[in-house]
Amino acid sequence: MFDRDVVLREIGLTPVWRTRTATSIDVDIPPPLQTETDHSAPTESHEARAARIATLQWDELNADIAQCEACKLCQTRIKTVPGVGNRSPDWMVIGEGPGENEDRQGVPFVGRAGQLLDNMLAAAGKSRKESVFITNVVKCRPPGNRDPESDEIFACAPYLERQVALAQPKLLLALGKFAGQKLLATDATVGAMRATPGKRGDIPVVVTYHPSYLLRAPLEKAKAWDDLLTAHRLSETARD
Ligand code: URA
Repeated sequence: MFDRDVVLREIGLTPVWRTRTATSIDVDIPPPLQTETDHSAPTESHEARAARIATLQWDELNADIAQCEACKLCQTRIKTVPGVGNRSPDWMVIGEGPGENEDRQGVPFVGRAGQLLDNMLAAAGKSRKESVFITNVVKCRPPGNRDPESDEIFACAPYLERQVALAQPKLLLALGKFAGQKLLATDATVGAMRATPGKRGDIPVVVTYHPSYLLRAPLEKAKAWDDLLTAHRLSETARD
């Protein structure tokens, strides 16, 4: 018999001795790397951010959008695309999100879809110079023109909300599924939303096909024309 503690002391393994197992080896684990202290303000909650955005005037709003990092689209955008047109418009037109040309120029609907939109508006007696404000559900380009994702739409919603509150348009014209669903808080199809114009507060909402879709499906333009007639009628009967 031998005394275990005496033996360990003699071979220099005390006072510290741990059993080694096949999966457990003693290694010196370095302390976690010290990162630089973050002196920036604590991250703003969505609610606090929405409440702050709801107080901004047009120029402050655009400045806020320009430096927004509330979602991942900020990592790939070239320019933010806040919106363009009359700030006290008859109609506010809402698309989906900027494409490649819009991302480069910082202006919504400047490509082929934009040309078609301008022609549609002109046929209804409207223009982005005089009577329409044009914006998008998300203010930064989804990479590769993919659909905007729900977290991106959620993060960007306070901007659209504030734009509507500031502009007080007589009518909201939603282009396509994403704008329609956001404005009417529904997951209905474009077909269903077209059939039953809704309201956001006291502002009528008309949903029509997105011009990019109409470029691919020109036979649907007749239906879009019907929607513009509906929009015209509803905005003429809306409060002045
Ligand atoms: N499509 C959109 O939905 N918005 C734009 O600004 C351009 C194309």
